[in-house]
Formats: sequence, C-alpha cells, structure tokens
Amino acid sequence: MPAIVIIGAQWGDEGKGKATDLLGSRIDYVVKFNGGNNAGHTVVIGNQKYALHLLPSGILTDGVIPVISNGVVIDIEVLFDELEALNARGVDVSKLRVSANAHIITHYHRTLDKVTERFLGKKQIGTTGRGIGPTYADKINRVGIRIQDLFDENILRQKVEAALDQKNHLLVKVYNRRAITVDEIVENLLSYAERLRPMVTDTALELNNALDAGKIVLFEGGQATMLDVDHGTYPFVTSSNSTAGGASTGSGIGPNRIERVIGIVKAYTTRVGAGPFPTELFDESGEFLRSKGFEFGTTTGRPRRTGWYDAPIARYSARINGVTDFVMTKLDVLTGLESIPVCVAYEVDGVRVDEVPVSQSDFHHAVPIYEDFPGWTEDITGVRAFEDLPVNAQAYVLAVEAISGCRISAIGVGPGREAIVVRHNLLG
Ligand code: IMP
Repeated sequence: MPAIVIIGAQWGDEGKGKATDLLGSRIDYVVKFNGGNNAGHTVVIGNQKYALHLLPSGILTDGVIPVISNGVVIDIEVLFDELEALNARGVDVSKLRVSANAHIITHYHRTLDKVTERFLGKKQIGTTGRGIGPTYADKINRVGIRIQDLFDENILRQKVEAALDQKNHLLVKVYNRRAITVDEIVENLLSYAERLRPMVTDTALELNNALDAGKIVLFEGGQATMLDVDHGTYPFVTSSNSTAGGASTGSGIGPNRIERVIGIVKAYTTRVGAGPFPTELFDESGEFLRSKGFEFGTTTGRPRRTGWYDAPIARYSARINGVTDFVMTKLDVLTGLESIPVCVAYEVDGVRVDEVPVSQSDFHHAVPIYEDFPGWTEDITGVRAFEDLPVNAQAYVLAVEAISGCRISAIGVGPGREAIVVRHNLLG
C-alpha cells in the first residue's frame, strides 16, 4: 500500500486526527507536509486530551515514525515545547524526523505577522499570528532561513543579516517597532542546534525508501482545502498548499505514489478568521453548533464561525484533491435538531449556481439554497454500525453523500477515538 493523504475538505478543524487514529496501527510514517503551528489537532485518548499545533498527530501512536517534511515552517521553540510536554506525559517522541529543508519561523516573522495584520485594519485576514505568512513569503523571496542553516554558523549569520536588512527598515520606518539585532536571532537559533541535530535528516529520501520497502506513509494536511493559497478563498487563506498536491511538493514524493486521498468533512461547517462563508449562521442555530460542537480554535481559542453543511464545497474539495473517501466528523453534534438544512447550490445575483463560483466577488454574494432533512433525538455516540444509527441520521448521511462528489466511508459520532462508524475500508 503506497502513500495516503488526509486533508481537510472545508475551512479546517474538521477533526483530521480522528481519521489518522482510525488508520492508526497500520501506518508506518505520519508526515506533516504544510503549515506550521497554526494548525490544531485535538486528539482524545482514553481520558487524556492532547492539543498539538506543530507535531503530526501520529506522534501519539506507538510504532509510528512522525515526520516534519520540507513544506512545513517550524517555530523551533514551539517544537521543543510540544516535545517536552509529550515527554512529560510519557509519550515516546524520540523517532521524530525533521527535514533539513524546512523553513524556520523566527521572532521577526511572528512580529511581522502581527503588525501587518494590525495595519490591514478592517481588511485583516484574521491570521493565527504565528508568523506563518511572513515565513512562507521569505521562502518564496529566497531570504528564508532553513533548518540546515543552523549547522553552519557562518551561513546562518549571513542569511539572518540579509533578511534583517530589509525587515528592520520595515519594522522601524513603517511599523514603528524596534529594530531586531542579528545577534539575538542567531544566538536564539543556535541554542537549539545541537538538540535538533539528531532529528534532522533527508526526509524525502527516507520517505521514498520507506515507500519502496512497502511501508504505509500517511500525509496529514494542515488547515484545509478552502484555506489553500491557490485553491482557497484567497486572500483569506493560509500561505501554503493544504490540498493533496501539497503532499508531493511538501515532502518530495512523486504524485503517482499517492493512492488514497481522504477528505475530512464536518457534518456542518466552521471557519476561523475572515473571508466568505455562504452558509454561516448568525442566529441561535449557529450558537447551538458552536457550543455543542465546542467550536473554539485549538490554536487561538477564538470562537469559530459556524454554519450548515455546504455540498458545493465538498464537491469542489473532492475535485481539487482527488478525494477517494470522505470521513464525516461530528454527526453527533446535529442530534436534537428538528430539521437540518444542507446547502445544495447557491443563488448569485438571482441566478442558481451549482458549483463554487470561480469569482471571489460572486462567492462573497452567494446565497445558499437549502434542502431540509428531518433530524433525530437519539444519542448516537455509542453507535458503531451504520444500520444502528437512527433512520433520519442514516438518511442525512446518504443524502449528503449523494451530492458531495464522493463516498462517505466513516462517520464520527463522538469525541473519543473509538467513536466512529466505518462503512468502507479506508485503505481499500
Ligand atoms: P495563518 O495560517 O496564521 O496565516 O492564517 C490564515 C488563515 O487561515 C486565518 O483565517 C486562520 O484563521 C486560518 N487558519 C490557519 N490555520 C488554521 C487551522 O488549523 N484551522 C482553521 N483555520 C486555520
């Protein structure tokens, strides 16, 4: 079995960790290929809750080798904080591999993220403020600092100098902040070098070798399709490719290695930060989804925007990513609703539009066209077989499946690891 990719099919926080867990014991490697500590996986194991921001959720599974590949941006301080916290709880973190080519988030990237957002005023993106955008901008501008630079002080210093040359003008003259010295950055980064060294490797080579040897490699996307810098609701997106193609460029494996693409959809929709969201709710239904689904950011704690399921978005994600299976999460959150609206198309300037409009202005104006499905009141958190779900819950899943562009192979029915109904084998 070759490479498998898991991606968020909406705006993030769909519960990808759960799908990873489901594959659990059969996986040899779990790779984070994009984003940084802007992500937030919450994994519940027994009565323990783990909130991970940077590390791939596979780090919690015994026997799995977790990898942070070249497409990721790494805040080294956060990396060690998370490793130490897991260590303290008895999790073995010694197998972590880190790409020598991954870029580093420094103090000036975090500062720039915050000040540029502030300057955008009403036009702000609502970033997580973790320095993600500025770090990717430096990567593309070819003034970034990579993990391998930590092992050559001379090169590191030259690169930090070059980067700060520009940045300090910006910080001081435009944003009215203090200049950052080369020494403080270099010293801070070097202080981690020796601890990092044993983890750093040619992850592309290791992953290709693993695939050649028949190992199962799971690529775990950060963020989600609608936050992808190319295919999302630009500019209200993150700065990396969070779609399935990013697994290839972000890790150095060929696209033909990928055989399964698992898209995670919530049974409704949420979004953090600004930008269009056609099915967003501003009434008590939205509040119901937020409080029942505990929709608050894992990374920022911000209340998430909530809305009904949007089938054109699911179809869009199925297309862009080549989704082979959807995993629907949090169906239990809908329990207790009398009827459940699902967006089946939009109306844009009086015209029915069946697919996500290519024009951002149209998407901003898109008004959802809903179809209502009858709800259920029975507690479904203990259900493990599809036929044991209330008939209306089954009908909801089947109806949503029929208009979402791909089969729904598993359904999350509660927060625990085991609270899942499997309909089709995700690996087959
Ligand atoms: P950034 O990734 O911090 O630059 O933020 C860009 C946009 O992506 C903002 O709207 C964030 O709220 C959103 N975002 C980033 N990471 C996540 C995530 O893991 N889940 C949901 N939204 C995210």
